[in-house]
Amino acid sequence: MEKSTQTIAALLQEERTFPPPKAFQQQAWVNDPKIYEQAAKNPEAFWAKAAEELDWFKRWEKVLEWNPPWAKWFIGGKLNASYNCIDRHLKTWRRNKAAIIWEGEPGDERVLTYQDLHREVSKFANVLKKLGVKKGDRVAIYMPMIPELPIALLACARIGAVHSVVFGGFSAEALRDRINDAQAKLLITADGGWRRGQVVPLKKNADEALKQTPSIQNTVVVRRVGDPSVTLGQNQYWWHELMRDAPLECPPEPMDSEDMLFILYTSGTTGKPKGVVHTTGGYLVGVTLTHKWIFDIKDEDVFFCTADIGWVTGHSYIVYGPLANGTTVVMFEGVPDYPDKDRFWAIVEKYRATILYTAPTAIRTFMRWGEEYPKRHDLSSLRLLGSVGEPINPEAWIWYYKVIGGERCPIVDTWWQTETGHILITPLPGISTLKPASANKPFPGIEAKVVDEAGNPISPGAGAGYLVITKPWPGMLRTLYNDPERYKQAYWSKFPGVYLTGDGCKIDKDGDFWLLGRIDDVLNVSGHRISTMEVESALVDHQAVAEAAVIGKSHDVKGQAVSAFVTLRAGYKPSSELADELKKHVAKKIGAIARPDDIFFTAELPKTRSGKIMRRLLRDIAEGRALGDTTTLADPTVIAQLKSQYESSES
Ligand code: WTA
Repeated sequence: MEKSTQTIAALLQEERTFPPPKAFQQQAWVNDPKIYEQAAKNPEAFWAKAAEELDWFKRWEKVLEWNPPWAKWFIGGKLNASYNCIDRHLKTWRRNKAAIIWEGEPGDERVLTYQDLHREVSKFANVLKKLGVKKGDRVAIYMPMIPELPIALLACARIGAVHSVVFGGFSAEALRDRINDAQAKLLITADGGWRRGQVVPLKKNADEALKQTPSIQNTVVVRRVGDPSVTLGQNQYWWHELMRDAPLECPPEPMDSEDMLFILYTSGTTGKPKGVVHTTGGYLVGVTLTHKWIFDIKDEDVFFCTADIGWVTGHSYIVYGPLANGTTVVMFEGVPDYPDKDRFWAIVEKYRATILYTAPTAIRTFMRWGEEYPKRHDLSSLRLLGSVGEPINPEAWIWYYKVIGGERCPIVDTWWQTETGHILITPLPGISTLKPASANKPFPGIEAKVVDEAGNPISPGAGAGYLVITKPWPGMLRTLYNDPERYKQAYWSKFPGVYLTGDGCKIDKDGDFWLLGRIDDVLNVSGHRISTMEVESALVDHQAVAEAAVIGKSHDVKGQAVSAFVTLRAGYKPSSELADELKKHVAKKIGAIARPDDIFFTAELPKTRSGKIMRRLLRDIAEGRALGDTTTLADPTVIAQLKSQYESSES
């Protein structure tokens, strides 16, 4: 048998390239590729220069202390994140610039200037103090996408409290577990939030959670939907009532660079969520510089990031990065298809958004809905597009480029994780030649490699393996809350001294990185390792396919067989002819080893609330097992339907 050191066979070839448009290049912050070499020569000096862009109450004494796997950045430095995101802009013309342009799902609007933000944040910081919240205390936040959410984050940062945001789509139990893990002292929530015209009963869920969260002393409730059935219990207060008498002035607490800024829970390979810990100085330096350079942020820009602040993308690229840069951000409460499937495009047009940052799953959904929705609107204000969250397949990339970007806007495909704090692998739009579905290169100052099972680097063009980060970076997680052992084990044990991302990746001969999805989403068919993502990408490349999820199904002979779940674009109908055609298509695009054994057509795929396809559940269905944990599903009805359809198709 042929022996290969290659960890994952990377077979999909994408040859199209898109050099940066001249006009974009000329005006971009970064337009000289020498920056990569310069930064690589002395990453600490590079990051120190970036740190100088922030306002420090006291300058750091040492840039980095690295005792693997423990990092400290900007040691001895004192700063405050809320000061950097707000107060420092008040000394300039930006004080009356829109910081947040917010649109609610029902179409209501609020604009907060930097001055407004200063007032609201300072007042709410005083509310927190009055409720007994002190520096270092944890505050749990369970809210819809309303302005009080970033206000709450920044108010915590102002007084040195640690926020732990729990996505508003999570259940009472998920909220309870996260509150208990962090031992949060205060909970901030709302009477409800809007979702497709319905009220999400946040307060009801919160009350359910609060039955088993002894650490919570008080709860603050924002009145968002005006639900008359929501009443306050003991130690519960309305936000607007507390704010009425709150003093206007609240001096920002000087925080040590390594003081904790926030905890954010994310799922790992086991059931228990991991409390990813981020600290103040390094995180803020990382998000501020990456936001400025990757999105080429100028004062005139209107930055629309469609993520929820319940996820890291919202933390880093709605709140901390953009506001530290004095940017105008668009924040939207609702979903892309309510009241109609053109909502994002209506927002882009209305506020003349110049930069749009969204996820591949959304892009594939838009493709499926068809061009007519974006075509209804004037999207000519856009100058740059971003993608994050999962590998984007070439067809979605091209669609995004053509239909949304009008073939004028570069696309930054940004790779990073909750743990990394900020983007690590990405194009720089003024210098990078883009290849659809490649995240390009490590950001200046970041060192990443692809290694084989033994930890040896795989040279460019030679294949695929594990993506690792080989030097510490400022925004890296410092530990997992209350679980330093798990931190060491999960990220630093497979290859000692280097950070394991858990993602598969290949580097082509030009040194460009191609993300291949999570390693645990890798199949082994007859001894060949195949990325689910590559097969999915090949399927979605077919004109009939909107979305595809590929799993490995146990197979007596091959070990695993490729099994695909496919949703079709409008105008196509499932048939056995089409299934055969798709199998052939995959074989043609990748090779016969990747040909799916079976293709199952379905109307919907099971997804988490952040849009990730839950392949684990599909594996359960395909292998006839009882369904595993379904609590993180966005729509639990999808999976039940899928299971019964699948079972009847098999019999
Ligand atoms: C995946 C989201 C390919 C990856 C910021 C990573 C991506 C996980 C990309 C982290 C990208 C994120 N291309 N894959 N551009 N961006 N991922 O913690 O598998 O929610 O490990 O952070 O998303 O997801 P998380």
